[in-house]
Amino acid sequence: VKSIISIVGSLNYDLVTFTDAVPQGGETYKANSFESHLGGKGLNEAIATARLRGENPDIKIRMIGNVGDDSFGKELNSALKESGIDSSYVKVVANKSSGVAVIIVEQDSGENRILITPGANGELKPSKEDYERYFSDKDTPHFVMLQNEYPDTLETMEWLNERRPDIKITYNPSPFKKELITGEILKKLDLLIVNEGEALSVASSLLGEEELKGFENVIKQDLISGCSDLSKKLQSLLRPSHLQAVVITLGSKGSIFASSESGPTFVPASKVSNVVDTTGAGDTFFGALISQLAGGFKLEDAVKFATKASGLVIQKKGAVESIPNKKDVDNLSDK
Ligand code: RIB
Ligand code: NA
Repeated sequence: VKSIISIVGSLNYDLVTFTDAVPQGGETYKANSFESHLGGKGLNEAIATARLRGENPDIKIRMIGNVGDDSFGKELNSALKESGIDSSYVKVVANKSSGVAVIIVEQDSGENRILITPGANGELKPSKEDYERYFSDKDTPHFVMLQNEYPDTLETMEWLNERRPDIKITYNPSPFKKELITGEILKKLDLLIVNEGEALSVASSLLGEEELKGFENVIKQDLISGCSDLSKKLQSLLRPSHLQAVVITLGSKGSIFASSESGPTFVPASKVSNVVDTTGAGDTFFGALISQLAGGFKLEDAVKFATKASGLVIQKKGAVESIPNKKDVDNLSDK
């Protein structure tokens, strides 16, 4: 094994309703169709890294999380096994339901609204001994992927910083909570992925009013150059390492990255005309990115690859089910 990717986080069962319109409080509407899909940010990220590492057996993927003792939990667990993901640290929690996400997708835009019941994910609070077990492999380059769908994201960062500073901590603070990102947290990270709104919000708690105004003004006039400056600024606040990278995603426009080795670079996305369901696009971007970095690719190539992969996800329904394989991404032309 040349590198390991560990994903710490949620596994959910997604209950998805597709509709033309969304009811207000007290109203009842008839929707068009219903589907259930496997999801959860942690699981989506894990499956994305597994499918997108391609035939590369040198990358080992490990999921750390909880499922409930219900039929959803069994399905979530088998999805990991089918994808060749090490699930030995996925615990079945007695008397708890698996995480469930009730998702409403508006069909003309593909935009979603998500209501989450954490269930077993809410019990994922590893002890020091647990961490020692999860991260017992030494001498292998190791990436950890974190998000905000379990209660102890911060504790995980702290443990890793203290005990295994060699492990790269990569973080997509989603679902976004502003108070979770302080200067102290940025200092623990090797890679941060946020969208433009989140980037500004992170910046607002870290920068002086004047500096922030400057960014806001530039972003209003020119999104790409404003976010380029912002990416560089945020990047300088991360833990110094040879990665030290910030990626700001700009939805259908593409993304911007800055790292210790390269200044801000804009990577455009190609146009997608049939957006069906955006669920899982962000998680896939993240998973695709890390799968490529773990495979030894340069950040720029990894961002390009991730942009293409997430463009494919939004053209299909569901989270896990819509995540492409490496071949599907490689077969896309470079326009
Ligand atoms: O990011 C998409 C995911 O968010 C869905 O799969 C759903 O489970 C929610 O956690
Ligand atoms: Na999708």
